[in-house]
Amino acid sequence: MKNRSLVSINDLSKEEIFKVLDLAEEFEKNPSQKIMDGKVVATLFFEPSTRTRLSFESAVNRLGGRVIGFSEASSTSVSKGESLKDTILTVANYSDLIVMRHPVEGSARFASEVSPVPIINAGDGANQHPTQTMLDLYSIRKTQGTLNNQKIVMVGDLKYGRTVHSLLMAMSQFNASFVFIAPKELQMPQEYKMFLKDAGLKFEEHTDLAENIKDADIVYMTRVQKERFSDPMDYEKVKNAYILRNHMLEGTKENMRVLHPLPRVNEINIDVDDSNKAYYFTQALNGVYARMAIMASILGLK
Ligand code: CP
Repeated sequence: MKNRSLVSINDLSKEEIFKVLDLAEEFEKNPSQKIMDGKVVATLFFEPSTRTRLSFESAVNRLGGRVIGFSEASSTSVSKGESLKDTILTVANYSDLIVMRHPVEGSARFASEVSPVPIINAGDGANQHPTQTMLDLYSIRKTQGTLNNQKIVMVGDLKYGRTVHSLLMAMSQFNASFVFIAPKELQMPQEYKMFLKDAGLKFEEHTDLAENIKDADIVYMTRVQKERFSDPMDYEKVKNAYILRNHMLEGTKENMRVLHPLPRVNEINIDVDDSNKAYYFTQALNGVYARMAIMASILGLK
């Protein structure tokens, strides 16, 4: 991974995924090693973020590096009409690594093609969110003891949800099976279903949530993303289509865990938070270790 950009989870081989996960485990044991001393990371967020930006910045700070960047493009020369290419070429002069979130699908790939320093995709539209996937894989391995043969129920916005798209691609390498539960307007796109068919992996599509989580290893909840709808009425129709409640966890596997990339709106009722099956806040913490490991691997730091 040294000196390479991370744009899509498909950029990583299975062996590279395991190396990052093992390194993240080491960082969890000892998160304050000053191996990034002298390194500058730029965080360019053209879209809102809490976890991704702050966990990257926390990771850099804990490892002794420095952070520059912005959380709103409106405060930068982008608002004067500066292009993405010019922004990247400029910021690359000031940093060793660029972490970028952008609303346009393919923008991270484009940035990686013009940038002289590596780019980490922190989410490009509805396309990919590979560092989220690494922390999801870390969370699955940590709670289940393995990545192999997991039954994963994905719920909510499966159409625009970049986290589910990235996770599906990654878990397909580990013989996962999938259940998709989404309103008809937000179903998993055909291209991902074709991908699973071609890979010989099982998937089912259902409409009932409670009935279809009983034999799940992971229930991966997602938010219906208001910002992806052009007509607010369309959002209103589907926003509360699926809400996970504590009583629905009765009869589920002892070791099942509920994951969510967060932020949540209504899709996980707060009565789930006290269940030992609720893992989403620890999952967000795991983001610090996973992102430490990704940056250390790309920067070639020991
Ligand atoms: N999971 C995630 O991407 O959260 P943020 O939008 O807060 O970064």
